Amino acid sequence: MAGELSYWKRTGRCLDYSEKNVGEEIVLTGWVDNRRNLGGLIFVWLRDRSGIMQIVFDEKDIHEGFADAESLRNEFVISVKGIVSLRDEANVNSALPTGKIEVIAKELKIISKSNTPPFEIEDDVNVREELRLKYRYLDLRRPVLQRNLILRSRMANSMRRFLEEEGFIEIETPVLQKSTPEGAREYLVPSRIKPGSFYSLAQSPQVFKQLLMVAGMDRYYQLAKCFRDEDLRIDRQPEFTQVDMELSFIDEDDIIDINERLLHHMMKEVFNEEIPIPFPRLTYREAMDRFGSDKPDTRFGLELTDISDIAKDCGFKVFEDAVAGGGSVRGINAKGSHLSRKEIDAMGIFVKTYGAKGLAWINMREEGVNSPVAKFMDEAHFNAILEKMGAETGDVIFFVADKNKVVFDSLGALRCELARKLSLIDPDRKDFLWITEFPMFEYDDDSERYVAVHHPFTSPMLEDLEYLESNPELVRARAYDVVLNGFELGGGSIRIHDSDLQQRVFRAIGFSDEEAWRRFGFLMGAFKYGTPPHGGLAIGFDRLVMLLTKSANIRDVIAFPKNQNAVDLMTEAPAEVDPSQLEDLHIMLKPDEKE
Ligand code: AMO
Ligand code: AMP
Repeated sequence: MAGELSYWKRTGRCLDYSEKNVGEEIVLTGWVDNRRNLGGLIFVWLRDRSGIMQIVFDEKDIHEGFADAESLRNEFVISVKGIVSLRDEANVNSALPTGKIEVIAKELKIISKSNTPPFEIEDDVNVREELRLKYRYLDLRRPVLQRNLILRSRMANSMRRFLEEEGFIEIETPVLQKSTPEGAREYLVPSRIKPGSFYSLAQSPQVFKQLLMVAGMDRYYQLAKCFRDEDLRIDRQPEFTQVDMELSFIDEDDIIDINERLLHHMMKEVFNEEIPIPFPRLTYREAMDRFGSDKPDTRFGLELTDISDIAKDCGFKVFEDAVAGGGSVRGINAKGSHLSRKEIDAMGIFVKTYGAKGLAWINMREEGVNSPVAKFMDEAHFNAILEKMGAETGDVIFFVADKNKVVFDSLGALRCELARKLSLIDPDRKDFLWITEFPMFEYDDDSERYVAVHHPFTSPMLEDLEYLESNPELVRARAYDVVLNGFELGGGSIRIHDSDLQQRVFRAIGFSDEEAWRRFGFLMGAFKYGTPPHGGLAIGFDRLVMLLTKSANIRDVIAFPKNQNAVDLMTEAPAEVDPSQLEDLHIMLKPDEKE
């Protein structure tokens, strides 16, 4: 739609003006946020990136321009020349930073008109997210998303400046890489020049940053785009950004220290908040035992208690079998929660999604203790459980008996669910912490072999090397994660810099020497030319922004995100391509995949 091609340049943004500017003639440019027509008087809220200013069009002042003002609709782009003036005491709007002033319009230019937008441009707009994502350019006009992206930019800058100060250099690494199927599923890119061959999109710059250490770069960082074809969740996108780093001649404590100071610096600079450092450290074992999770939310209690020693011969077969089978029985005491029977049953349904076959409970009601499992036990065992759980009137205590993985998964999740339900979480609290001493390997039932928990370049803890061949499950890794409020914020490790040890680790995960060479020969070969001890870490930048802006979803801090099905609803990617493009790439689709 046509508007005026010439317009006045603005003298500033809305929030640049205050009572100090009363009497000045200024020019503002921006969007019509809303408009109220009171006859001879029209009030328009003009919105730009900084915020909102009230413009007053009074027929007496603006004469022939008044007809234009009457034609204004939401989202028109305008340029207004006018005089800053003080509002009457009665008309001050304390909800607006510019609420003490307004601009009395002298002239108006309509720069561009707008269709009626498919939803209101306002923060708590009540509309399906699909519609917002389809019209993302309108969605991004909402102040909350503008604020998120501004903070994101400031955080990135602050972290870059810190790392530069600390002697890191930013180096870009390839996005088109060699496929190394270890970790998340990769996106493949077919080669036109080499038929039948594929690149993969970088899951992370991992091998390149290690090669940069071999190359003597000493300290590398990058805000790196990474691509993973995973199931999406509130904290996962198929493409995301890491604050990625690698350092030479360091140990775990150096990396932990640098990252604590990095986060401290950024929190102070961008949020003016002093976070306490050093962060607490928990070993993986302790985190699992106390919280049932390797990314525990420590803003509330509800810790797990292991009652296996009592449960193993308590008379309740489900409990006894779990312990006899190598699993455990653990409980959580929802202290003073006075949960109703309905609420207790809802928790039983909740843990099912985490694989628990049931949820036993004890309700410490005023009228008497109530529990569906009491009848299976003698009094001594039941009382011993009550004592171990610290049971008091008003408490409701939950138990899961199963393999440890199921016990941890379900109680770890139940803990968080109970905390939400009982409002135990202080939303302003920021619990940063480190998890250390991760297991090096875990058994993968699908491929029937051990796989590296972090990645196969991670160094085992030296004191555990003796178990590398005999009992890989006992080997701990020199790996660490940084956690914030129950989210894994970042992870890293000290790497193997010795090709013999690297070979032993590859063997432990079932790679023959030939296979290891075929996949990672370039890295193992490089290690034969003088390799410094090195290690690093990558912070999930989108997650960090999500948590610090208190956004409910990672999509709210990414300008153009994909939806739950990895689709960009605005451009409709992924999409079909011309047959000639496929031809060039030597690709033939299976008939049923063409539609
Ligand atoms: P890791 O795989 O743990 O380590 O990734 C580091 C951090 O990246 C974030 N992250 C994601 N964020 C959004 N969407 C995703 N799909 C996603 N996947 C991961 C997480 C995670 O903690 N190369 C190693 C690091 C190293 O060893 O130095 C790596 O990539 O916050
Ligand atoms: P049942 O004997 O099936 O009536 O179960 C008695 C109680 O034990 C019910 O409250 C079940 O939810 C609970 N229960 C069953 N299996 C488990 C389990 N694996 N862990 C914890 N509680 C369980």
